[in-house]
Amino acid sequence: MSTVNIVGSILGKISKDPYKIFAPFLSNSSPELIKKVQHFLIKEGVFATSKKNKTPKALRQQLWGRVFPSPIGISSGYDTKITVSDFLCDMGFGFSEVGTVTCNPDKITKRAFYSKKDKAIIDQTPGFLCEELHDFVLDLSARRGKRGIVGTSIGETLKNFIGDETGKGERIEPIEQYEIALKAVAPYSDFVTINVSNSNMAGLAEYQIEQNLNELLKKLRVAINKAAPINTPALLLKMSADVSDVGKEITAKCALANQLDGIIVAGGTKKRFEGMSNYLLKTPGCMFGKPTFEYSTHLIKEMYYHTQAQIPIIGCGGIFDANDVYKKIRAGASLTQVYTGIIVNGPGMIKKMNEQLANKLRADGFNSVSEAIGADMR
Ligand SMILES: Cc1cc2nc3c(=O)[nH]c(=O)nc-3n(C[C@H](O)[C@H](O)[C@H](O)COP(=O)(O)O)c2cc1C
Repeated sequence: MSTVNIVGSILGKISKDPYKIFAPFLSNSSPELIKKVQHFLIKEGVFATSKKNKTPKALRQQLWGRVFPSPIGISSGYDTKITVSDFLCDMGFGFSEVGTVTCNPDKITKRAFYSKKDKAIIDQTPGFLCEELHDFVLDLSARRGKRGIVGTSIGETLKNFIGDETGKGERIEPIEQYEIALKAVAPYSDFVTINVSNSNMAGLAEYQIEQNLNELLKKLRVAINKAAPINTPALLLKMSADVSDVGKEITAKCALANQLDGIIVAGGTKKRFEGMSNYLLKTPGCMFGKPTFEYSTHLIKEMYYHTQAQIPIIGCGGIFDANDVYKKIRAGASLTQVYTGIIVNGPGMIKKMNEQLANKLRADGFNSVSEAIGADMR
């Protein structure tokens, strides 16, 4: 047992949720630093000291040929390098999405701000900070055979260029970039997400145009079937929360036409809403967390309607407790994902969320999550 394991075991005896002891020291830190501290604690077993997790059976759901023990998963961006996903699944999260990874990492620095008061994060990073695709795939393949459900988010680079810093290299069209990343990760992923959700990347708005989105989805549908003909991963699309009304309809239409297995609704938003703090109103960038909850839940309802409930929706945006998850499910989500909620509350939140979600289902007469999906839309 390492020193930290011993510390973790002591902390586990003092507190049901050991993260609460660390949280006050981190409240003014950047979300990246908070994430790093959380990852360190997770890897060192601090959370494993709590009693063996038993996820209530009512939360179990079969989707894409896999059994999801809980509908609450980890959003992309939290575990970009596949360092903690297996631990998180063991702690009670139903699945994890790693990445976003691209075929060639952009040389950019993270610019993200955390407002604890608003329970929000604003991200100004114009692209994806990720490791080299080759290294990412090595890490991903190393976890083959492990229990947790892990999907991979793939994206495009800022400059559509593959090469080195000296400028040597070649220009690669965005769709081809997605194809390169998809082919590399598909054999080791339970699902692959085509991420067009980053509102900080102007180029991604191109995928609100029907012809462009159709071409992307068509090519990637063929590519995933070829890259992993046996046990083919589910193919998902993560849409932007800043999509126009027409864009919502186009997204649904293209997803149906190309037999997508799921739509993630949605990434962060550049919109600002009434009654927000001055800090949020004045800080530009993509906003995540509590203030986005109502908006993104409404978007789930719209996409559930536009897809005629034919494509499973993974709902995210502002989830902090079981009640938030339940509302997303009733709005039409089959699964949900959390990011900012973990930064604020710590990953130990999942145990209570699972228990409380099961209680909510039971109280409303649902025997399982599946029965509650879209309940507010009927
Ligand atoms: C700092 C930060 C980094 C993120 N990075 C990614 C990313 O790489 N890929 C992605 O698809 N989404 C990314 N997201 C969005 C999350 O996956 C999720 O969709 C969003 O945070 C909404 O959930 P939340 O309100 O629970 O945070 C990021 C979000 C934050 C706050």
